[in-house]
Amino acid sequence: MRFAKRLDLVPPYLFAELERKVEEKRREGVDVISLGIGDPDLPTPDAVIRALQEEAAAQWTHRYPTNRGLEAFRDAVASFYGDRFGVLIDAATDVVPVLGGKEGVAHIAFACLDPGDMALAPEPGYPPYTSGPLFAGADVHYLPLRAEHQFMPDLDAVPADIAGRANLLFLNYPNNPTGAIVAQGLFERAVEFAHAHDLIVVHDNAYSEIAFDGYRPPSFLATAGAKDVGVEIFSLSKGWNMTGWRVGWVAGNADVVEQFRRLKTNLDSGMFDALQLAGVAALTEARDFPAEMSVIYARRRDLMIDALARIGLPATPPQATPYIWVRVPEAYTSETFTELMLSEAGVVVSPGPSFGPSGEGYVRISLTVADERLQEAATRIATSLRVEAGA
Ligand SMILES: Cc1ncc(COP(=O)(O)O)c(C=O)c1O
Repeated sequence: MRFAKRLDLVPPYLFAELERKVEEKRREGVDVISLGIGDPDLPTPDAVIRALQEEAAAQWTHRYPTNRGLEAFRDAVASFYGDRFGVLIDAATDVVPVLGGKEGVAHIAFACLDPGDMALAPEPGYPPYTSGPLFAGADVHYLPLRAEHQFMPDLDAVPADIAGRANLLFLNYPNNPTGAIVAQGLFERAVEFAHAHDLIVVHDNAYSEIAFDGYRPPSFLATAGAKDVGVEIFSLSKGWNMTGWRVGWVAGNADVVEQFRRLKTNLDSGMFDALQLAGVAALTEARDFPAEMSVIYARRRDLMIDALARIGLPATPPQATPYIWVRVPEAYTSETFTELMLSEAGVVVSPGPSFGPSGEGYVRISLTVADERLQEAATRIATSLRVEAGA
């Protein structure tokens, strides 16, 4: 059999690889603690589960949904954006459901990029910022995110010929994997940049509802002029513990939304209506749920940051996202540190370079496990480092 060459354009999907390694260890009888993937450990809010149960029992939901999404879903998104971000979304034209943010990120490239075009993607970054454009036949120019630049891309450093070819700019704040929050002025600069180079901005807002210490992450769409140049991808996965449900949306510029919807009519047949109504329950009855989850993540963050500091791995406490971006000790690379953690501590962390070359020297720790397990992971990490150092 011969398969498409495009599948070889990207490395094996990071978390698929991690899953494989964890399985291997577990088969060996190791009690693995996975801090690798950002998959919330706590249950979806009751109101959302109830809504799905009720709506799944109603026969009208059993038929094909529309690609536009239910009016009730689009209205709920518009109200949420108005109340939470002060952003005006026209429910009729400015929003379309997606089967999780990942689907939105990967497929939007197919609506915006032709072969030979260029996408600008932050790195380290969420892998589909690369795979989507590459599968669409476009090229990717990386925008390195570095600690000394507050993990912001330097748009002024993009070479003129690259900017000229670019038709898509991905941004993501609060940021995965670095945990950085958007710096003052970046979104405004992105709008300017988009006008100057006639490109579409896609802001991935997967983490705005997991935030700490009173910080409330903004929507890109709240930036003056943002709706003229781009869209935002939002997901219920992280804030509402709904990673398995696959509910999100693309909102913003009506032309981008419409072209994306047009593309999707050829790819899938929309989101199960009962799921859309469960999404409505999340945005209405369970609107405050992410704030409760944020209290839990803040506690875990503090626990982990303290534990890391005690073993000589100081890390900046993130103000948002369930991730800690940790510099590995000098004697290690990201990979050797990750290997040591798995083989000696039975702890899975994500090696920084799997998010892009600028991730070298870092690992990402996810706070999506119970406090006791986090504590246990920290203890095991400390022991394995002491053993390694011959102490
Ligand atoms: C930056 C970022 N964007 C989007 C997603 C997509 O999440 P989902 O497809 O579950 O909505 C993730 C998930 O990890 C992410 O980290």
